[in-house]
Amino acid sequence: MVAGFVYSQVLTACIELDLLNALKAGPREVADLATALNVPPSEMARLLRAASALDLVEPIGEQYALGAQGAALLGNSGLAEMIRHHDRLYADLQDPVALLRRGRGEHLAGYWPYATAQDPENTGELEVSAYSALMAATQPAVAADILAAYPMRGHRTIMDVGGGQGAFLSAVASRWSHLNLHLFDLPAVVERARKVLAPLASRTTFSGGSFLSDSLPPGADLITLVRILHDHDDDGLRKILLSARAALAPGGRLLIAEPMSDARGTDRVGDTYFGLYLLAMGRGQARTPSQVAGFVAQSGFSRSRMLRVRTPGLLRVMIAEP
Ligand SMILES: C[S@@+](CC[C@H](N)C(=O)[O-])C[C@H]1O[C@@H](n2cnc3c(N)ncnc32)[C@H](O)[C@@H]1O
Repeated sequence: MVAGFVYSQVLTACIELDLLNALKAGPREVADLATALNVPPSEMARLLRAASALDLVEPIGEQYALGAQGAALLGNSGLAEMIRHHDRLYADLQDPVALLRRGRGEHLAGYWPYATAQDPENTGELEVSAYSALMAATQPAVAADILAAYPMRGHRTIMDVGGGQGAFLSAVASRWSHLNLHLFDLPAVVERARKVLAPLASRTTFSGGSFLSDSLPPGADLITLVRILHDHDDDGLRKILLSARAALAPGGRLLIAEPMSDARGTDRVGDTYFGLYLLAMGRGQARTPSQVAGFVAQSGFSRSRMLRVRTPGLLRVMIAEP
């Protein structure tokens, strides 16, 4: 734990210097990398040894190649984006006691303007662009997990609430060609989604608004909340669930997918990482599956169950039925 911060910063240096991409074509010598990345040769050697100990790179004779972790990271562009935006989280965590006493971060909160806005529906295009792009970049792994866990062949219309710029619905559309698609998000985010989902325009409906103050459009028989509820306090969560229940077509289902705490082996991610991340962001918490099930039951759903997922540390998936 004491060394963990240093490991993270070695990773940050590799991402900021674009070291992993520099090794994509094959192994390179220290001196070559030092020149290319503008770091003194002795310190490039130091970074490479540190990164090698973390399996990000691997020594091969006099050269360095991608390591197993580095290759995995290069294969998932969303991760590099995620690591880059952590500079704001780390700035807030510089003084964790001050962060706890203040109850919100000074740096990360600006990245997620809806979390602290009085009227989130008025959030502008400029304010939503960075987080919307990050969510889209990290969505493929999330969508793959959800699609593997829940077959959608029995549904007609899916409404993705808080659907961002449409990355999840794009993945759903590729897997299930019969589904009508509906995306609900803040107006400025919906404008981005219209562009991303333009090729699917004939099957797609867009609605802009705030799920904290507007009702959700009716008609979908599958409503999805992907990485949504943990962003909200309990009052917000109740509003979203009640609204989803009211909008759901007869015989429909609600699918909730997000990181949850209290899963065996994932409590560090839920309670430690997301606990502090959401504090810095300004709102929300990772809840246990039984806490989420409790809110779901109070919102007019009579049954809920957890689905098996491949990466429970990334997200858990719950299905609820009225
Ligand atoms: C953490 S992101 C998740 C995006 C997407 N579901 C995904 O997993 O990639 C939360 C989403 O909720 C949207 N959102 C936040 N507050 C909202 C509100 N009050 N009404 C509608 N959408 C909102 C944000 O714009 C953002 O797209």
